Parts: sequence; C-alpha cells; structure tokens
Amino acid sequence: TKYGIIADDTVAKLYGKQCMQSLEAAGIQSELIIFSHGEVNKTMATVASLASELAQQGFDRSDALIALGGGVTGDITGFLAAIYMRGIPFVQVPTTLLAQVDSSVGGKTGVDLPEGKNLVGVFYQPKIVYIDTDVLHTLPLDELRGGLAEVIKYGVIHDADFFSFLAQEREAVFALQQDTLTRLIARCCEIKAWVVEQDEREGGLRRILNFGHTIGHAVEAASDFQLIHGKAVAIGMCAVADLAVRTGYLQEGDAQAIKKLIEQYELPITIPTDLDRKVIKKYLLNDKKTVAGRVFYVLPQGIGKVMITDQVSEDAVDAVIACSGC
Ligand code: NAD
Ligand code: GLY
Repeated sequence: TKYGIIADDTVAKLYGKQCMQSLEAAGIQSELIIFSHGEVNKTMATVASLASELAQQGFDRSDALIALGGGVTGDITGFLAAIYMRGIPFVQVPTTLLAQVDSSVGGKTGVDLPEGKNLVGVFYQPKIVYIDTDVLHTLPLDELRGGLAEVIKYGVIHDADFFSFLAQEREAVFALQQDTLTRLIARCCEIKAWVVEQDEREGGLRRILNFGHTIGHAVEAASDFQLIHGKAVAIGMCAVADLAVRTGYLQEGDAQAIKKLIEQYELPITIPTDLDRKVIKKYLLNDKKTVAGRVFYVLPQGIGKVMITDQVSEDAVDAVIACSGC
C-alpha cells in the first residue's frame, strides 16, 4: 500500500525528496524515515527506533520498505524489513559504489554489536535492486575508491576479461562515464548473483567474496578503523596475493598485475608501517569468519581464479604480514 523510504540524514537531504516525488508521480504513497549516518549507527537501537516509527506511522503487512543509501542503510533496512511484523518486502536503492556492486545484492542484512561488526542479522533477499549510476556524482572520492576495491575483487576471483576492462577503463571510471559505470556495476552484480544463487548461506563458494577481507579486516581493526574498509581490503588482496606466491599457488607476475591494478585505482598495496604486526595477527585469529579456530584464506591462482583453503602455515602468514611494505 505504501513504502517507507529509509535513508540516513546525508542521503535523505540529497535524494529523499526526489525519491518521494518519483514514487508519487507513479501513484505510490511513501514516507521518508531518517536516521543518523555512519557505521556507529548500524545498531539494534537504530533498528528498534525505526521499527517504532513504522508502527507509529501505521505501517502494516501490506506495506514495504525502500533502502535508499549506502551499505549501512541497506543492512539496517533489510534487517528491519525481515523482522517488522515478522517480515515485509523491501527494495534496495543503493547510492554508494560499494552498495551498488556488493552489499545491495545477496541478502546479507544486519547490525553491529559493541563486540563486533555484523554480529546480528539474517539472510533476507530484497524483492529488487534498482541502481541509478547518476547518484555517484555526489559521492566523496574516497568512498568511490573504497567501492573500487570491491570491483577489482570480482575481476581477480572470477573474470580475467573484466580485470583487463578495469585496467583499460580507469580514466572513464574516475570520470564517472555512465556507460562504463553501467557495464562495470552490472558485471559485478552478475558475478555476485551467480555466487549467491549457488551458496546463499556461505557454506562454501560464497567465501570467495571474502577475497582480501580476512587480512583486510585485521588491518582495518588494527588501524582502529582509521583506514577505510575499501583501502584495507585493497591491502588484504595484495597480502593474499603475496601469500599465494609464497605457498606456490600463484605466479609472481600475476601478483604484480593485481598490485598494479590496485595502485592504478589509487588504493594502497602495503600494510602501513606504523601498524603493529602483532595486533594484526591477533585480529586475524579472532576474525568472525574463523571456523573452529581455522582461518580460511581465499588465494588467487591466476587472474580470474581463486581457491579457498585453511591449509596455510602460520609462518607464511607471519612472513607476508612482516614483509608487506619492506
Ligand atoms: P555507508 O552506507 O555508511 O555510506 C558511506 C557514506 O556515504 C555515508 O556517510 C552516506 O551518508 C554517504 N552517501 C551514501 N550515498 C551517497 C551519495 N550518493 N552521495 C553522497 N554521499 C553519499 O557505507 P558503505 O560504504 O556504502 O557501506 C558500508 C557498510 O556496508 C558496512 O556496514 C558493511 O558492513 C556493509 N556491507 C554489507 C555487505 C552485505 O553483503 N550486506 C557487503 C559489504 C559491506
Ligand atoms: N560481501 C560478502 C558477501 O556478501 O558475502
């Protein structure tokens, strides 16, 4: 009957009115419901407060939600939709590159706890994902770069042609040329959908989407989250490329190609020298994707091909972390 558009304050100011007007023009009633931006607000408290607002505004099971925003908004809205009145439908309208190529597709929803990121949530698929590449014009450059790390990830894990396309189209990407962005985003969504269709609950194959994230998360946490997620993932992808060379799965030339593309996209390739390697190691062992004490690594075997293994020696990991940037 009506849509609740959930947006953070920044996105609400930029696109809230426009979104409501376009729904109105299509004869659809909507309400804009706003929360404060930022990962610090991806909490149970925000979800509870948004749920109360929905109830006060009379939302019922004939209604639906729209997540208008980045990954924080998408994760919160998906979770809210999954639990409000035991589940109402929702639509993703992602407005960051990261959300367009990754978080809006695949149905992972949830919030953070003081004890860690994304510790509470459910798998709950959106009915549809609408992507308007035009909104990227207002996105800060660093946020764009962060999303590009996830874009490069898809090339390495699954598509060598896409990897080459990224190398050729760098200027068009930074100039936000719409036809290039459309191709780029569509390919990422296709790859993610292909993975999630086969393994929605991350029993196996879906782990390949964590390429670069295991070491990346540890680096991000060791920097006290001063390093943005995308940059930490870029560093993590380079570190596992080194790990794959060290363990004999990847040719040095391919590792260099991965690093070259990451650098081309203005992302870091080494762990900052001021980060304590022991702290990184501690976070690595506490990663929530660790299963029964086993750390899984997604190792590249070439461009467009990866393997998942927990058979990597601690010595090799220590050496890679110690040597990054030497
Ligand atoms: P975000 O949602 O916080 O957005 C980043 C910032 O950009 C925010 O301040 C937002 O207000 C602003 N913004 C959004 N769109 C804008 C636009 N078009 N113009 C100007 N400013 C804009 O962060 P994010 O990087 O999009 O997402 C990160 C979150 O996504 C994390 O919480 C992460 O855990 C989650 N995530 C989820 C999945 C998943 O599968 N569900 C996958 C990857 C990441
Ligand atoms: N971003 C990783 C996943 O959706 O599985």
